[in-house]
Order: sequence, then C-alpha cells, then structure tokens
Amino acid sequence: MAIPENKLAFGDGWQYSPAPESIDHIKVRKKYDLFIGGDFVAPVKGRYFETINPATEERLSRVGLGTELDVDKAVAAARKAYSSWSRMKAAERGKYVYRIARILQERAREFAAIESLDGGKPIRESRDVDIPLAAAHFFYYAGWADKLDYAFPGRTARPLGVAGQIIPWNFPLLMAAWKIAPALACGNTVVLKPAETTPLTAMKLAEVVADAGLPPGVVNIVTGAGDTGAAIVNHPGVDKIAFTGSTAVGRIIQKALAGTNKRYTLELGGKAANIIFADAAIDQAVEGIVNGIFFNQGHVCCAGSRLLVQESVADQVIQKLKDRMDTLIVGDPLDKNTDIGAINSAAQLETIESYLAIGEEEGAELYQSACPVPDRGYWCRPTLFTGVSQSNRVVQEEIFGPVLAIQTFRTFSEALSKANNTRYGLSGGVWTDKGAKIFKITQNVRAGVVWANTFNKFDPTSPFGGYKESGVGREGGLHGLDAYLKLEA
Ligand code: NAI
Ligand code: MG
Repeated sequence: MAIPENKLAFGDGWQYSPAPESIDHIKVRKKYDLFIGGDFVAPVKGRYFETINPATEERLSRVGLGTELDVDKAVAAARKAYSSWSRMKAAERGKYVYRIARILQERAREFAAIESLDGGKPIRESRDVDIPLAAAHFFYYAGWADKLDYAFPGRTARPLGVAGQIIPWNFPLLMAAWKIAPALACGNTVVLKPAETTPLTAMKLAEVVADAGLPPGVVNIVTGAGDTGAAIVNHPGVDKIAFTGSTAVGRIIQKALAGTNKRYTLELGGKAANIIFADAAIDQAVEGIVNGIFFNQGHVCCAGSRLLVQESVADQVIQKLKDRMDTLIVGDPLDKNTDIGAINSAAQLETIESYLAIGEEEGAELYQSACPVPDRGYWCRPTLFTGVSQSNRVVQEEIFGPVLAIQTFRTFSEALSKANNTRYGLSGGVWTDKGAKIFKITQNVRAGVVWANTFNKFDPTSPFGGYKESGVGREGGLHGLDAYLKLEA
C-alpha cells in the first residue's frame, strides 16, 4: 500500500511524519526489535508483525514477534539484573525512575503524536492526559523508592523479583507506566508485553529507558500477541504477573496461576453506572456523561457506559445529550479539534458493530449523531441506546466503544440496585447537589472508584482496581506499591 507523501517520508531508517499543526516531527523506525538486556535484539525466530494507523489503515512499522524463546531470554536478563538492582541503594534506584519521568516529559509531544498515530486516540487526549499522566506515575513512584519504610511503618519491604506485565491497547504508554514505575521503585525488574495493535510508544519507552542509563535487563520489552503474553504468564522464572485487559483473558491467566507461587494483579473489564439525580447541575452532568462514555472512543475499562438518570429529568438530559453529541467531531486523531478518534482496530470495530445490532434486536432504540466520518479507517459515531432493560446485553456486557445505554430510575434505592446489578465493579459516577447522597452512593456502589460530579479523573496517588469480575488487586498510590512488595513483620 502506498503511503501518501505528506504522511510519511523515509530516510536513514527513520520515518519523519507529517507536520500537522500540532506536531513538529516524530520519529518512528520502520522496524523495531525486542528490547532485552538493554539492547534491541531481533526475535529468535526472526518474525515480525505490522502495526497500523487505525485512522488510515496504513502500516506504521513492523515490530518483533516474541515467542517463548524470546520471553525466556528476557526473563533471564531480568533475573540477572535483579540481584544488583534490588540491592542498589534505594535513593539511587529512585534517581533512575526520575530520569525516565523527566525524559518522558521532555519528549511528550513526540510520544503524544505516536500514541495517536498507533492507537487512534485524539491528540488532545494523548497530549493532555496519557503522556503527562504517564510521566506523573514515574515521578510519583520515583519519590517512594527510598521511602518504603515510611509507606509501610514497622514492616520490612522486599521486592518480589521478576514481574511479568501484560498491557492493553487503550492507554498504551500510561498502562506501561502504571506497571513499570511501581515495580522499579520497589526494586523489581520487569518483562513487559505491550498490546499487538499499539506497541510503538512502548518501544519508544525502551529508548527512554536506555537513554536514562538503567542497568541492562532491569526493563525488558517483548512485543507480540496473546501467545507471547501466555509465555510470560507461564514462565517459571516470573514472580509476579500484572495484567490489564479483558475479563476473558484475565480468567485464563488466573487459572494458569492457580497453584503457583506467583503473585498477581488483574485489572479487567467494567460496565460502570453514571447516576444522574434530578438535583444535579444538569449541564455539567451532560458534559460528564459525554466525557464518561466518549473519552478515548469509549475504549476505557472504567467508562460510564450505563447512564442511570432520574425520571423527572430524563427527557431534558437525553435531549441535551443528543444536542451535545451532534457537536462532537469524529475523525483525524492528529487534528487537535477532534473529539472522537479512530476505533483501535478492525476487530474492535466489529465487536462494537455487533453490539449495535444486538441492541436493536433486543428492541432498544438507537440514536447516533450524524457527523461525517472519513472513508478509510475504523470509525464509530457516538451512539445512545434508550428503551433498554436491565437484562439486555447492551446493558450487561462491556462494549468498549462510544456506545451508551440509558436507563431511568425513580428512587434512590432503584438507582442503587440498578447500578449494582452487574457482574462488574470497577467504577461509577454520581451527579447530585447533595453531599449526603454522594456519601450513600459511594458507600453502597460496589466499585473500586466512584466519581462524584466528575468522571474519568485519574491521579497516581489514588488506587485503582475492581471488585467482582473487574479484577483482583489495586494499582496506583500506596496500594500499587504493596502489589510489588513482600511485607515482612
Ligand atoms: P485482550 O485481553 O485479549 O488483550 C489485552 C492484552 O492481553 C494484550 O496485550 C494481549 O496480547 C494479551 N493477551 C491476549 N491473550 C492472552 C493470554 N492468553 N495470555 C496472556 N496475555 C494475553 O483484549 P482484546 O482482545 O484486545 O479486547 C477484547 C475486549 O476486552 C475489548 O472489547 C474490551 O471489552 C476488553 N478490554 C478491556 C481492557 C481494559 O482496560 N479493562 C483493555 C482491552 C480490552
Ligand atoms: Mg497500531
């Protein structure tokens, strides 16, 4: 497939891509090897796979397809590095993590552009959310490295060993930061596998790790798909698995780890209720609903994908929501005016479209904005389902796209029981003028995080994780340190 001149020009093994207004230049190699033991090395079997730009369907780069043999090498490199890394003076270890944070900050524009190219998310989000938060995670955990005694008073904190980390495609660099930063600060070494559709910022992170001068083998990055992930999970030399992704794969991993000594954290799916009471500030709530479900094309595990709105204001809220949806711009992720970028992959678009059909078959009423979408690439207009019931699949199952299911309620207890009537328990939201209602909701909605009069706010200091089928364990904050430590009396 020919790549348009203005998109990518080749030279010296680098591609220099466009310069739409927000981007000066970005560098993506034509080919990425695996990052093992501090070097970029070809996969043992010499196989590579493509990563494309989902907004154009054009190839961006080829990355190594890691097999069990490569995972074995990476685990060996991590094990070798562990003995000195875990014994290094904690303040020194912290300095390395700080260095990663600072370099990420310096290269933020380049990272943001690559994140948007490889995964389809709007540049405004990569620029203002993903990359700054990724740097913030490294800063935050760097600060803890030499303060573990204060984090866990009276206990002796020891690292676990080699951490195997498998991440998804919705927040590629941010998820790498969530995994790597606490692991390193605690003295572990890591083998990370990025998702197959979004490996590029992880490979750029490998360059940052090398530039920051980390000892070889402390961070290893092996690209590949599910088999590569499974090789990490099943490797006997790995002491801990941290996984973020689908509940289906989370289950496979949990089974594989049963009966082993490996520790694990699983951050899985969600179907969060965003609850709007009649006394809420309605315009703000509408913005919160939009942000809750359309942020990152709805590819968000904690997305507010179920709207529960009090009956007396339902018509008003839904009308305002439709009006607001009609103003959303779907299209070029690199354009800073874009609100909703490309769906991450053809497979994910197919999943979303299958749910659009399921909703209609179930008798729900579908509303989509009428905005234009580009001819090429993977797109989904912002979508609402009304007239749904609790048992509908579009109410119960994670769609992971810009699709909102709307239900109404009359009483507080009805809202609560509908909110909790789900097998997931990752997040929730409540919009009301009354503090007392907020406390009652946050205490009674069984979810790891409940936002009040806001949604999708993240901070490295606060723990994140789920109940029920949304996962096991917490990441972020002190809880996130705990997950990478053995605490002894
Ligand atoms: P997935 O769970 O298959 O992929 C996530 C990561 O796990 C990727 O790096 C993948 O290569 C890896 N993986 C796949 N199979 C594995 C295995 N057997 N052992 C170890 N690692 C494995 O998610 P997928 O298929 O990309 O998306 C399907 C659905 O999952 C989405 O529609 C969405 O509902 C949900 N999902 C949830 C995410 C979250 O943040 N909670 C993130 C991604 C997907
Ligand atoms: Mg890609």
